[in-house]
Amino acid sequence: MLDLLITQASLPDGRTHMSVAVQGGRIVEVSEGLQAPAHQTLDAAGQLLSPPFCDPHFHMDATLSYGLPRVNQSGTLLEGIALWGELKPLLTEEALVERALTYCDWAVAKGLLAIRSHVDTSDPSLLPVRAMLEVKRRVAPYLDLQLVAFPQDGVLRSPGGFDNLKRALDLGVDVVGGIPHFERTMSEGAASVKLLCELAAERGLPVDMHCDESDDPLSRHIETLAYETQRLGLQGRVNGSHLTSMHSMDNYYVSKLIPLIAESGVSAVANPLINITLQGRHDTYPKRRGMTRVPELMGAGVTVAFGHDCVMDPWYSLGSGDMLEVAHMGLHVAQMTSQAGMRQCFDAVTVNAAKVMGLKGHGIEVGQDASFVLLQARDPIEAIRLRATRLKVWRKGRLLSVSPAAQATLSLPGRPDATAFMPVR
Ligand code: FE2
Repeated sequence: MLDLLITQASLPDGRTHMSVAVQGGRIVEVSEGLQAPAHQTLDAAGQLLSPPFCDPHFHMDATLSYGLPRVNQSGTLLEGIALWGELKPLLTEEALVERALTYCDWAVAKGLLAIRSHVDTSDPSLLPVRAMLEVKRRVAPYLDLQLVAFPQDGVLRSPGGFDNLKRALDLGVDVVGGIPHFERTMSEGAASVKLLCELAAERGLPVDMHCDESDDPLSRHIETLAYETQRLGLQGRVNGSHLTSMHSMDNYYVSKLIPLIAESGVSAVANPLINITLQGRHDTYPKRRGMTRVPELMGAGVTVAFGHDCVMDPWYSLGSGDMLEVAHMGLHVAQMTSQAGMRQCFDAVTVNAAKVMGLKGHGIEVGQDASFVLLQARDPIEAIRLRATRLKVWRKGRLLSVSPAAQATLSLPGRPDATAFMPVR
């Protein structure tokens, strides 16, 4: 007897009328039209059953702090960093934990079951680190939270920056972070990349750096990150986040750079909602979009994922933990409007994001975790178009969240009364 059998599901790869059988928290069969006795059977009625959404780039320590102690007037990255600096002395562990747990509730309801969060290690107290480790412990039964040691004020620029980052790793933070473009000079930025990659090699840890989050076409720390990855044999466990300077770079240089990134096995994460709002702020017109070259990187075989980055914090006043909103924005900013391009944007917030995070057990395949999301949509493109309701969310066979289908009852003059699913399709 199976624990759960879902029938008539559509899968993101285009297969329809699929049954997914679950036993002991794992997927034991995926096949067309399978019928078998189960404690629970659910007819998906042709709707999309997707692997969970994964966010490979977030800031859980800053989330839901919008307006504390004031809002970002210029809308720039640098004012956001300054504003976070004003907020830091006012933080308490309790408030950080409470806001993060609230966000994780939102995330689960949106089918977002894995988040890689950078956590600021600049302050010697490591207060945000302790708070996020506590959050990680508390959400572990329902959400995979990975933490990145992120030296927000610069690992070399801020006093004690490197020691504080190492202490954060000693406490159990999972990934080595960095912010080379915020170090004092280009050469110090490059030195920080070398130092941090060497630390990761020594400790056997992955690397995920904020890298070249700038409109400066000469911000080329990604080149150093790719080089150090190869030199130290870190292929497959290094990610470059943002890479926005690539938007502004000279095409000739990029024609050399992208193959170097592909060769090094470094993955890339774009953060469309944040890149489109923080970058190009010093431009008049034409105003740059600021997102990295997503289709070109994908075309070269680089794993590219999309992250949410911020929700209601010093850098971004909106957001709700909805990775379909992130995919929707990424699709528009990158002009990935072909059928294949739109599907790639869905992959960027599911399978590619899981790959960047090095997650095990992700995907609707035999032997993987029975973690998935039933969407009120028929395929990935419709899911993005409608930012579809997450009707049901399971993790390892356990139902975590149920949302009612979106619908409206219409009473229109000259038309018969009708109930329509919203948006109408
Ligand atoms: Fe970030």
